[in-house]
Amino acid sequence: MTSIERVFATSIYRAKIGGLRPKAFLDELRMACRSIAQEDCAGQNWSNEAGYMGYTSYASLDDLPTRNPTFADLCERLKPRLADFAAAVDFDMRGLEPEVDSIWINVLEHGGTHTGHIHTNSVISGTFYVDVPEGTSAIRFEDPRLAMMMANPQRKACAALHNRQFIYVQPSAGEVLLWESWLRHEVPVNMASEDRVSVSFNVVLA
Ligand SMILES: [Fe+2]
Repeated sequence: MTSIERVFATSIYRAKIGGLRPKAFLDELRMACRSIAQEDCAGQNWSNEAGYMGYTSYASLDDLPTRNPTFADLCERLKPRLADFAAAVDFDMRGLEPEVDSIWINVLEHGGTHTGHIHTNSVISGTFYVDVPEGTSAIRFEDPRLAMMMANPQRKACAALHNRQFIYVQPSAGEVLLWESWLRHEVPVNMASEDRVSVSFNVVLA
C-alpha cells in the first residue's frame, strides 16, 4: 500500500468581509481611501520618491483607525477572520489574540507594480480589496522553499495547486486575503486603466 502525506503546508485564506451592510461599508472605505490619498502630501511625496506608481500611506500614516472610523470598523470586521486563520494554521494562542498592528492604503495606478517582499515583525499579513478593476493584476505568492530548489525540475503547467511554485490569486472587491507574514508575494503590473485600491495590514499576537 502506498500513501503520500502532503506536509509543510502554506495557507492562503480568502473570505468576504462580514458585518452589517457590507456594500455601504465598502463604499465608505473607498471614499476614505480616496480622500486620505488626496490629502496626505507626505505619503504622496514618499510614493513619488520610492517610484510607487500611485499612492501608499505605508510610510506616512500610522493612525488610520483613529484618523477615520471606517478603518476602525475594518479592524473590527477583520477580527473574526484573523481568529479563523489562526485556528486554521493551528497557532497555539496561549491566551493571546491576533491584533492589527499596522494598516495602510494602497492605490496602484495603471502601470504600477509592487515587487516581491515579505512583511517583517508580524505573524499574519493580509489585504482587504476595495477596488479591483477588470483586467487588473492578481497577487502572486511564491513557494518559500524556492531558494532550496537548485536542481528541481519545472512543474507542469497543469500541476496540482499544492505542487505549484507560484500561485496567483485574483481577489474581488470586498474580499480579504490572509497569509503568514513570511510568505513572499508581489503585485504584478496593473494593466487595467483604473486604479487598484486595497488596504493592507500586519497582525501580531497580543
Ligand atoms: Fe505585501
